[in-house]
Amino acid sequence: MPRFLSSRPDSRLIPLPWQLPLETWPKEALVALPRGISRHVVRFIKVGNSVYAAKEVIATLALHEYRILTDLHRLSTPAVEPVAVVTDRFDEQGIPLDPVLITKHLEFSLPYRVLFDQGVRPATVTRLVDAMVVLLARLHLIGCHWGDVSLSNVLFRRDASEFAAYLVDAETAELHPTLTNGQRANDLEIARINLYGEFCDLEAGRMLDSSLDPKTLVESILARYRDLWAELTGAEEFSGDETYRIENRVRRLNALGFDVAELDLQTTPDGSTIRIQPKVVDAGHHSRRLLRLTGLDAEENQARRMLNDMATYRWATGQQQEDEAVVAHRWLTECFQPVVNAVPPELRGKRDFAQIFHEVLDYRWYQSQRESREVPLLEATHGYINDVLRSLPDERRTLTQVAPHADERLPANPFDPSAGFAEDDEPLPQDPWATGEMPAVDPNFLDIDALRARAKK
Ligand SMILES: Nc1ncnc2c1ncn2[C@@H]1O[C@H](COP(=O)(O)OP(=O)(O)OP(=O)(O)O)[C@@H](O)[C@H]1O
Ligand SMILES: [Mg+2]
Repeated sequence: MPRFLSSRPDSRLIPLPWQLPLETWPKEALVALPRGISRHVVRFIKVGNSVYAAKEVIATLALHEYRILTDLHRLSTPAVEPVAVVTDRFDEQGIPLDPVLITKHLEFSLPYRVLFDQGVRPATVTRLVDAMVVLLARLHLIGCHWGDVSLSNVLFRRDASEFAAYLVDAETAELHPTLTNGQRANDLEIARINLYGEFCDLEAGRMLDSSLDPKTLVESILARYRDLWAELTGAEEFSGDETYRIENRVRRLNALGFDVAELDLQTTPDGSTIRIQPKVVDAGHHSRRLLRLTGLDAEENQARRMLNDMATYRWATGQQQEDEAVVAHRWLTECFQPVVNAVPPELRGKRDFAQIFHEVLDYRWYQSQRESREVPLLEATHGYINDVLRSLPDERRTLTQVAPHADERLPANPFDPSAGFAEDDEPLPQDPWATGEMPAVDPNFLDIDALRARAKK
């Protein structure tokens, strides 16, 4: 009998064939979704309308990862959400199987290879890199040493014109009260090595724009991280008559999407110098504000865009004196909902609603510029749906459902991206150790006595 360790159990998971190694699970239980490369067997399971990611991994790691992901979730850090660990698995012969860690499938998320496969403009690469830098800084702020910073361990979600990065692999992560500079530097060193390798790999596969160079890219990531870290945590000193600089610092942090929960402010006895240092900063300034006002859960930049639209709406409808919460409610019913309702159900797998709303606003702006008139929101929505949304690839798509385009290759096994493509002429690379083609190992190898004897001679 398998055991389920879970704080939010889903009983529909219990009847699944836990006595089988994940690799041999029947297709009916699985769903083929884009996935990054991994050492462990990872599959997506579908029960009812929910999709979960399942990873077969040794017990200590499964439990460790479950606990770390739970903590990250509690601390509102962008990471996949843990659901359960299934232990005590045995196959039909009674041979023990590794536990399975189950996480909620992160909807509308894109592994970096899927993004790069579609061709990525240099500016987009910068955005991906920025998202990764913000994630790393957020982890470090809460005292999380990741230990395995890499593109394969991140999932990207669209966030207005930017991306938001989510941590997907917490096997090596550790939580501490705070991180030392050495621990942060260690994560940066791991990032440097892994990201360099991944960018070189993309370059070799001709998926990296030729204007980009892996080494410069990695250096820019490290530099951006250092700048962000300095802005989030660095001390600033100024003269006593420049108190507006306190407010400026807070505004700059807000603009970066952070809230100041604690600011350490010291003044010299005569008040001639002031020193400020943010002590606790929390990410998600705009997301939290939007959630409080409207109940909408959106990524940071999507939220920023919606709050701006709400401010414009307030001004355009002369509601400056009205209570903010009342205006937010009106904006929701008069602006946001009509856009969402206009999207036909079959197109709802393309983008999440917050992203659609952002793209409609962009579309309306361009159309208004082109036609020199104020285009109404609903008119722009219909234009966007027909001109843009219909032709976009389905980001909630499954790999088995994709209609192959002329230039699109289908995976050999849609449930296992590492199996290569169906029509690949070249055979898959073979592991010479596994196929027995490697020359037999010298039996004296590791014969320490023989080595010592030879060294004596
Ligand atoms: N909850 C999830 N939602 C969406 N995708 C997921 C989820 N969990 C895992 N994946 C996909 O599966 C891939 C592999 O997962 P993960 O990195 O945890 O495996 P791993 O074998 O531990 O990796 P590594 O080789 O780095 O140790 C991820 O890159 C991601 O694309
Ligand atoms: Mg991984």
